[in-house]
Amino acid sequence: MQERISKSELETKEFAKNFASKLGRGDVIVLSGDLGAGKTKFVEGILEYFGMQEEISSPTFTIVNEYHKDKIDIYHFDLYRLKDVYEFENIGGEEYFNKGICIFEWGELIEDILPNDYIKITIEKGNTDDERKLIIETLGAKYEELSF
Ligand SMILES: Nc1ncnc2c1ncn2[C@@H]1O[C@H](COP(=O)(O)OP(=O)(O)O)[C@@H](O)[C@H]1O
Ligand SMILES: [Mg+2]
Repeated sequence: MQERISKSELETKEFAKNFASKLGRGDVIVLSGDLGAGKTKFVEGILEYFGMQEEISSPTFTIVNEYHKDKIDIYHFDLYRLKDVYEFENIGGEEYFNKGICIFEWGELIEDILPNDYIKITIEKGNTDDERKLIIETLGAKYEELSF
């Protein structure tokens, strides 16, 4: 487990960009944390790294947004409105795991069916409005050696 303190939205995005440089097809990222924690900003940082999009439009109203550029495919899920894991299975959610880079806001809702290897980032609010703690955990052997 690794921890980072972020003092601003910009700092969170910079960290996300550096994080993104280590990602490739088949990687699964779970973002956890309250509403307003910064999960979507983190995803924006990842997309920025790949030159895909700077701002994400209404991610809360669709379950998955797709971004494609060059040979990189990113699937950004927001599971906030997901009823249960079966709803995810019914939309064929598991088929995405190998298709590209999968990022799940509220991914803990599907923890039971996630692949063995994934990276979980929990964002907690800090002492000031702009402070956040990022807790990075890796699950499975694939990411054991990775440091951020
Ligand atoms: N250190 C920080 N990191 C990320 N976001 C921050 C930070 N400080 C303040 N914010 C603000 O918090 C909000 C996070 O929103 P968002 O990323 O949509 O949250 P979530 O997706 O977790 O609900 C944004 O308004 C952002 O400007
Ligand atoms: Mg969000």
